[in-house]
Amino acid sequence: MLERVNHIAIAVPDLPKASAEWRGRLGATLSDPLPQPEHGVTVVFISLGNTKIELLEPLGTDSPIARFLEKNPEGGIHHICFEVEDILTARDHLIKEGARVLGDGNPKIGAHGKPVLFIHPKDITGTLIELEQI
Ligand code: CO
Repeated sequence: MLERVNHIAIAVPDLPKASAEWRGRLGATLSDPLPQPEHGVTVVFISLGNTKIELLEPLGTDSPIARFLEKNPEGGIHHICFEVEDILTARDHLIKEGARVLGDGNPKIGAHGKPVLFIHPKDITGTLIELEQI
């Protein structure tokens, strides 16, 4: 079911500081910050040969990463996104296997304009997993 890792998302409290660390210490090439108000985050993309890193900073009052940053004030890995060929087949398989899909169970259009869903972290080794249809 899982294809390649589409991205690893890292929640950060301070995007300029995080960008400077990734640029300076790791030599990464970063995109400009991209505000995504409909997703409650500002994103900096780091494109690598085999995947992407997304640095996410909260945007607005009701950011989906605000609570994570309360618990992890330094930031940290927020989720891993895998590509899947058919998101509805993947969703039905997850439900059959006893995993909870967040929200109303229907895929939403994600930050890349493609259908995505999130699996409850308590049902996958304490890790928030995003699936994106390729
Ligand atoms: Co994501």
